[in-house]
Amino acid sequence: MTSILTVIGARPQFIKAAAVSREIAATDGIEEILVHTGQHYDVNMSDIFFEEMGIPEPAHHLEISGGSHGQMTGRMLERIEAVMQSEKPDAVLVYGDTNSTLAGALAAAKLHIPVAHVEAGLRSFNRTMPEEINRVLTDHCSDLLLTPTDTATRNLLDEGLEASRVHQVGDVMYDAALYFGEIAAGKSDMLARSGVSEGDFVLATIHRQENTDDPARLAAIFEGLGRVARDMSVVLPLHPRTKARLVASGLAHLTEALTVVAPMGYLEMVAHEKAAAVIVTDSGGVQKEAFFYGVPCVTLRDETEWVELVDAGWNRLVPPRDPAEVQRVVSGAAGTKGSDIVPYGRGDASVRILDALRTGLR
Ligand code: UD1
Ligand code: UDP
Repeated sequence: MTSILTVIGARPQFIKAAAVSREIAATDGIEEILVHTGQHYDVNMSDIFFEEMGIPEPAHHLEISGGSHGQMTGRMLERIEAVMQSEKPDAVLVYGDTNSTLAGALAAAKLHIPVAHVEAGLRSFNRTMPEEINRVLTDHCSDLLLTPTDTATRNLLDEGLEASRVHQVGDVMYDAALYFGEIAAGKSDMLARSGVSEGDFVLATIHRQENTDDPARLAAIFEGLGRVARDMSVVLPLHPRTKARLVASGLAHLTEALTVVAPMGYLEMVAHEKAAAVIVTDSGGVQKEAFFYGVPCVTLRDETEWVELVDAGWNRLVPPRDPAEVQRVVSGAAGTKGSDIVPYGRGDASVRILDALRTGLR
């Protein structure tokens, strides 16, 4: 029996792990030990995903959250190392680019346990982003680099990482979108909480540190969304980080014209994404989901890792400086489509990850 220890902790990792954990559970000869760092801990940022998506109960819950990046990552590193020493897994699986990702990968690499990184090779080329540091370091200490796209694969080869470690498997979020998108479609009351109907609203999510912690950018974003709301409802499932920063910066009044709701479970979120006229976001995952569901997207950032969607016309990048520009681009995006592309594989990334784990970690 091969044992894989998976480290997760933040919302997007629960969604990615949901797809892969299902595949592991269906595969003979492999068992998974789930470790939840505790980075995200509210019921609607964590528990709801385990319940809705059938993710197994974590074997270890470390309850580590908050503090500075160094404090959080350091505390995780110490506790994850102890878990790995007692569980002695054959390999460690990490996802994405959060502090939980880096702590899991680094702890394993120091104990000489092979590390597999799902969503390897993404780059914004902006080293002021905490996620960029986490990605680069995780990739460089991983043994199996499981990439979602051609661009991600190329980025790793450009950094001199051996081609034999790189396996392009496609995007696990596409697997999740196909499987759980169908389940969401079978539920009828998913738009009830926000009171909107198909096609008559803009869906917005904002949480990226470079936006929340810069009052000028935060003000430009929410003044811009306020202007959009003069013409169309703007539904904002509000991330706890953003909620706290809006209050601390004295900008909470800028959300008064928006339909602010608590963070959504995945099925409710998918239903809103599918029904939105436009999606406005600074999330990585939400940019791709907009494309999966054929909805135009506006990304309020200076750059994106998912460049293929901008090139194909599904997404447009707007550095959030001018509220009038935010409004102009969002209005212009409604009703548009990009070109026909297949950048994220065929929805079988989980199967291909399992294949890569079986062959690549021998
Ligand atoms: C983290 C990831 C980011 C990812 C995002 C997904 C890092 C460096 N950042 O950002 O890459 O895109 O998750 O959502 O790992 N909070 C709560 N309840 C929760 C979770 C967070 O109140 O359940 C609040 C706390 O005040 C916390 C703050 O949000 O200090 C920020 O949380 P943190 O996990 O540090 O970063 P995120 O902004 O969520
Ligand atoms: N998501 C969700 N509820 C919300 C907001 C987002 O279920 O209220 C999902 C979203 O559909 C996507 C994932 O969370 O699958 C993206 O995570 P997030 O935006 O927190 O992080 P990022 O992808 O930017 O790292």
